[in-house]
Amino acid sequence: MNRDVIIACDFATPEATLEFLDKFKDEKPFIKIGMELFYAGGPDIVRELRKRGHKIFLDLKLHDIPNTVKKAMKVLSRLDVDMVNVHAAGTIEMMRAALEGLKEGREDGTRPLIIAVTQLTSTSEEALHKQLLIDASVNDTIAQYARNAKEAGLDGVVCSPLEAGLVKEACGSEFMAVTPGIRYPDAAKDDQSRITSPAKAREIGSDFIVVGRPITAAPDPVAAYRRCCADFIGE
Ligand code: C5P
Repeated sequence: MNRDVIIACDFATPEATLEFLDKFKDEKPFIKIGMELFYAGGPDIVRELRKRGHKIFLDLKLHDIPNTVKKAMKVLSRLDVDMVNVHAAGTIEMMRAALEGLKEGREDGTRPLIIAVTQLTSTSEEALHKQLLIDASVNDTIAQYARNAKEAGLDGVVCSPLEAGLVKEACGSEFMAVTPGIRYPDAAKDDQSRITSPAKAREIGSDFIVVGRPITAAPDPVAAYRRCCADFIGE
């Protein structure tokens, strides 16, 4: 598994995204397209960014009945993206269906990587107990949902970098931990709470870090991206 830095392109329009990516002359960063940009730009922005040579993590967090997820994944697989995701809360059966859909979408035997969201980092222990009536701790549900994802044949999970060790312990070192929540100690935390630096994320065991505002809102995004790569990949 090659460690890499994924830039979260959380822009409202395709134009703003392309303008941002035009700043990168010497490298083609791996990028994440989330719901906002996908709902604004649709499959066209995905195709355009593929045409420009970017690897793409399409972060749409599917969660529906297995048959619906399978069919949706078949369509996303054909968009030729590199990584997609689902909510592990959809059950092992739903995750298996997602994987089947991805495989059916392509005729050349390839498929995108597929990872599962365990617990959103915005879900507090209190909400888990009082609203969702889940008695287990957040960490226990993360470990169990990760094991479910592995059993379904998925490649890994999205989690906080601080939870990457927990996931590796539950599922083995080959099971991928893709981690947002990356911040430098000298910068703003924004709305993230369970955060760490790129170097520390590497030490704990992240395979990919997802970095948004520390790069997109930096005065020099290319320099900020290079700093993340140097610290995380070691180049
Ligand atoms: O700007 P920032 O670095 O906080 O962006 C992190 C990205 O990762 C955002 O696109 C956010 O939606 C996503 N993400 C997250 N925490 C999760 C899952 C996804 O921050 N648990």
